[in-house]
Amino acid sequence: MHAVTYELIKEATKGKARRGRLHTPYGTFETPMFMPVGTQATVKTLSPEELYDMESQVILANTYHLFLRPGSELVKKAGGLHRFMNYSRGMLTDSGGFQVFSLGEMRKISEEGVMFRSHIDGSKQFLSPEVSVRVQEELGADIAMAFDECIPYPSDFAYTKKSTERTTRWAERCLKAHTREDQALFGIVQGGMFPELRKMSAQSLQDMDFAGYGIGGLSVGEPKPMMYEVLDQTTDWMDKQKARYLMGVGTPDCLVEGINLGVDMFDCVFPTRVARNGTAMTWRGRLVVRNAMYAEDFRPIDEHCDCYACRNFSRAYIRHLFKAEEIFGLRLLSIHNLHFLLHFTKKIREAIEQDRFQEFRKAFWDNWEEKDQ
Ligand code: GUN
Ligand code: ZN
Repeated sequence: MHAVTYELIKEATKGKARRGRLHTPYGTFETPMFMPVGTQATVKTLSPEELYDMESQVILANTYHLFLRPGSELVKKAGGLHRFMNYSRGMLTDSGGFQVFSLGEMRKISEEGVMFRSHIDGSKQFLSPEVSVRVQEELGADIAMAFDECIPYPSDFAYTKKSTERTTRWAERCLKAHTREDQALFGIVQGGMFPELRKMSAQSLQDMDFAGYGIGGLSVGEPKPMMYEVLDQTTDWMDKQKARYLMGVGTPDCLVEGINLGVDMFDCVFPTRVARNGTAMTWRGRLVVRNAMYAEDFRPIDEHCDCYACRNFSRAYIRHLFKAEEIFGLRLLSIHNLHFLLHFTKKIREAIEQDRFQEFRKAFWDNWEEKDQ
């Protein structure tokens, strides 16, 4: 029995949307779900209480960053990440596979693992399946991810095949190195934009029987229609009784389409990153609060939103905070954007429960103004 199990509750009659539940040591969480990103053991600008208030369920932290600073040994001494950051809900750590590969020139891949230079002090570092698993066990999140290679787009068939096969061998090493029974380990399906490699990756990982599966290597610069097509073909090969996590994807449009293609979990820096940039998320798309047109707009960001920012503050005030470079502005938009996306996924869960997800999806697209992005 795995430490984290997925319970499939209901499937849509049209499309592949599913309503489920993830049972973990820190609680039971409803899927589909969006996971706020807390790269460095903090969801930027928010306290754990603020996350609980917006019904956040699982947050994501990054092995790469915490490995370099403050180091997993220190976190272990503190009693694990939950204790260290005084957070008592679900937590997932990414393996470092993605961050290391984004370093470009600063890294060297071999069968053994990846040598790279720290972005903090330039020091030489090494991550491998075994090191990543040890670090993630010390961090102690409910869910750890296998160490993989996220291939850039575009990549040719030969390289994609070589890399995907290596990611499969790394997944096997991760499974061997993993010892914590109170922590789940998810494998990560790769395979680039090639359906046959996606199938091969999904099937060989499934034979290893992970507790759940990430879908990696998407949203790496390919056009959205291509991502949806690859995703559609990938989930067809995946076990219905296990959770499926589309990594690094989480704009409203991708959430709706991803859920329609059978995805249960998403994470993305988008809501918190654009918030710090002066952009609010709405049902129609982005609202750039920094714009001059909001200078005397005393309405809330979204009249129907019941987040702390919308209940108490106007567009004009938040715009002023950004213009004056006051940090409260960053907090207010981060609160709104995360609340928006968590509420958005809650609405989707309700729609699936009532078997009207396709109606929800149609209404979403009718409203959405960022159609070509
Ligand atoms: N985050 C976004 N994409 C990926 C991926 O392909 N692998 C990992 N480990 N993390 C990701
Ligand atoms: Zn709001």
